Amino acid sequence: MAKKIAVIAGDGIGPEVIAQGMRVLERVNESRKLGLQFVPFGWNADEYLRTGVSIPPGAMDDIRNNYAAVYLGAFGDPRIPDMKHAADILLGMRFQLDLYVNYRPVKLLNERLSPLKDKQKIDFVIFRENTEGAYVGMGGNFKKGTAEEIAVQEDVSTRKGVERIIRYAFEFAKRTGRKSVCMADKNNVMRFAGDLWMRTFEEVGREYAGIEHFHMFVDALTMQMVRAPEMFDVIVTNNMFGDIITDLGAALQGGLGVAASGNINPGKVSLFEPIHGSAPKYARQDVANPIGAILSAAMMLEYLGYASEAKAIEAAVVAAVDANETTKDLGGSLGTRAAGNAVLKRLEERS
Ligand code: IPM
Ligand code: MN
Repeated sequence: MAKKIAVIAGDGIGPEVIAQGMRVLERVNESRKLGLQFVPFGWNADEYLRTGVSIPPGAMDDIRNNYAAVYLGAFGDPRIPDMKHAADILLGMRFQLDLYVNYRPVKLLNERLSPLKDKQKIDFVIFRENTEGAYVGMGGNFKKGTAEEIAVQEDVSTRKGVERIIRYAFEFAKRTGRKSVCMADKNNVMRFAGDLWMRTFEEVGREYAGIEHFHMFVDALTMQMVRAPEMFDVIVTNNMFGDIITDLGAALQGGLGVAASGNINPGKVSLFEPIHGSAPKYARQDVANPIGAILSAAMMLEYLGYASEAKAIEAAVVAAVDANETTKDLGGSLGTRAAGNAVLKRLEERS
């Protein structure tokens, strides 16, 4: 049976970058006879504003039961300031499909893209817990709008949630031959959650004798990511810290335009998306960098078991970047579609 992929282009620059990712995916699907079937989903801000519905009833179960993966662009629209549809769709899928691993590699594609003086080798991976923490939306306001107002926002960590993401990080390190795992938290202040994270990290770490493990406060970690990024192989952290440090990670690899991510429930339907947002002010101008979306497509193929196809796409991206055939954010002069062409051309030469 064909593996079905839900394609959710979303808002802003989402449709433009996903269009380029789809050209690459369709090309590989045909030439390597993967038998993938791509099904477009029109969920976006326009649809939400028109119908008041962010996700149609039953759609989440349909994705869970009938799809192998979700390929997603970006969500966010200035007409929906509370991000209701984005939260329902993106965070909704993370929670309801239990996509507990947020996998965000930080790899410099070309030395010239390094924002750091004298740092030309940047290659590590961040695993962000993706279903708990401050993202669970627990809390509330009391005496709202008065001078006595109180706001409470809970940060939730469960033993199960903490253990599975830490274990995943160690398993990844073992599988890929990475030397170390660093756990970042703020256990000098957040004593209770930090204690759970630290104990779990030590316990799981003991099971992986061949892999070095060390702890860092997340504030110190951000400094080291800039000062000495070569010290990291695998970083594991909670949802909110992971959100913050992966934007820094994206900047280290050349900018948000090139950063890819996977939201993974191992063995189950998982979601792949560029790290960047919908960037409404750049929408429909043919300026957005499609590389983050293209590398997310490659990551999706790898997840689905097509490692050589994923490698071919990555190599085509690197070759296009080496030739400076990129959008302006990377120093090139091409539009979104032409930057997609540059990758496709290299892919065709290789397959
Ligand atoms: C990300 C984004 C999301 C997040 C937003 C859009 C809700 O910043 O994927 O990193 O905070 O997780
Ligand atoms: Mn983010």
